Amino acid sequence: MNREAKVDQDMCIGCGICADNLPDVFHMDSNGKAECFDPGGATEEEIQLQAIDLCPVTCIHWQQE
Ligand code: F3S
Repeated sequence: MNREAKVDQDMCIGCGICADNLPDVFHMDSNGKAECFDPGGATEEEIQLQAIDLCPVTCIHWQQE
């Protein structure tokens, strides 16, 4: 089963860690919130360790497709 990382933009404080670590997966939108624009831009392990586990407000989650 595939799953995709999603950012809860209501919770994102715009710290930028996810976009800095994985620029092929996350970017900051015009509101200063992170967005997962390419869920396939890194492995699930990379997304888990370099974004989900580091987000200070825990607002990146896996969503089943
Ligand atoms: Fe936002 Fe968390 Fe990324 S606060 S910028 S989703 S690391």
